[in-house]
Amino acid sequence: MYANDALNGSTILITGGGTGLGRAMAERFAGVGAAVAVLGRREDPLAETVAAIQSAGGTAAYAAGADVRDPASLEAAVASLEEEVGPINGLVNNAAGNFLCASEDLSANAFNSVVQIVLYGTFHATQALGRRWIERGSGGVMLNISTTYAWTGSSFVLPSACAKAGVLAMTRSLAVEWATYGIRANAIAPGPIPTEGAFSRLMPPGAVEAHAKQRIPLGRLGTREELADLATFLMSPMASWITGEVVTIDGGEVLKAGGEFNGFTDHPREQFKAALASMRPSK
Ligand code: HXC
Ligand code: NAP
Repeated sequence: MYANDALNGSTILITGGGTGLGRAMAERFAGVGAAVAVLGRREDPLAETVAAIQSAGGTAAYAAGADVRDPASLEAAVASLEEEVGPINGLVNNAAGNFLCASEDLSANAFNSVVQIVLYGTFHATQALGRRWIERGSGGVMLNISTTYAWTGSSFVLPSACAKAGVLAMTRSLAVEWATYGIRANAIAPGPIPTEGAFSRLMPPGAVEAHAKQRIPLGRLGTREELADLATFLMSPMASWITGEVVTIDGGEVLKAGGEFNGFTDHPREQFKAALASMRPSK
């Protein structure tokens, strides 16, 4: 889909880049010319991602262990990565924590844990890179991975909904405040895309297929590749005049849930059109 030099000159840090969507973005970015650094708490998935990129021919792939909740650990990881790879000029805030829980049953620590990863973690990584970009006068590109329920809220994922809404506010705030430094800030709001991390925590077994068919107008779940392609575009110079934008990638799921008459699309179309014809006043 893209020229194989679409991200030449980019050095991109992806938080949570060892698994799922983060790994898909890392592999895609590396495949179109970026140097990539992945960061997370567990060493093994990070090492596997680096190895996969290298075995596909990408030489510039690096990993650093850090907890995004801890600004000191993040700062140390960014500093050590930059010694290896040189100045980082792109950041994808992708690390997240989430689980299904009735809100009245959440402990204070459970709420704190998710908000710390998603909202504070995004802030810590953003500030660590943003300060460098401002000091260097180099500009930079940020992409935050949000969700579609950041606008609507959602039952049973209260800490994530609150934190992801905050991430959208951060994206839009910094898009304007830091534009003067040549920094772009955008976000992606994905609908359901199968990953071990998300689906093991959020999709009760057996619900997946039915969920896709009933809720998503395009009739299927998303793929990691589709997400990675969109992220590639937003990180690249092809999007150099796009900032403060949130792109939804969900097969139409959120729109369908909101439209008064959208439920009628679930009926066989010819049957529904026959019903409409029967309601039409006769001439
Ligand atoms: C209720 C829970 C819980 C659960 C953990 N807790 N899981 N409470 N229901 N299922 C509580 C714990 O009891 C504890 O509170 C507190 O949360 C912190 O838990 P720890 O296990 O000590 O925390 P930690 O090791 O830091 O792990 C963080 C985590 C974990 C968020 C709880 O799930 C994690 O590491 N997740 C990372 C990956 C992830 O979540 N990926 C999914 C992203 S998908 P107490 O009070 O007992 O100390 C996504 C969007 C999907 O974000 C949208 C789909 C459409
Ligand atoms: P995932 O595989 O569980 O990814 C989460 C990543 O974040 C993991 O690599 C994890 O690595 C890292 N992480 C978690 N806590 C961290 C911390 N404290 N410090 C550093 N890294 C941490 O799930 P995913 O589905 O790919 O999700 C990726 C992003 O997409 C998330 O922002 C998620 O909210 C968003 N999203 C996903 C979907 C979907 O359907 N998959 C839909 C909407 C939005 P470690 O555990 O090793 O730290």
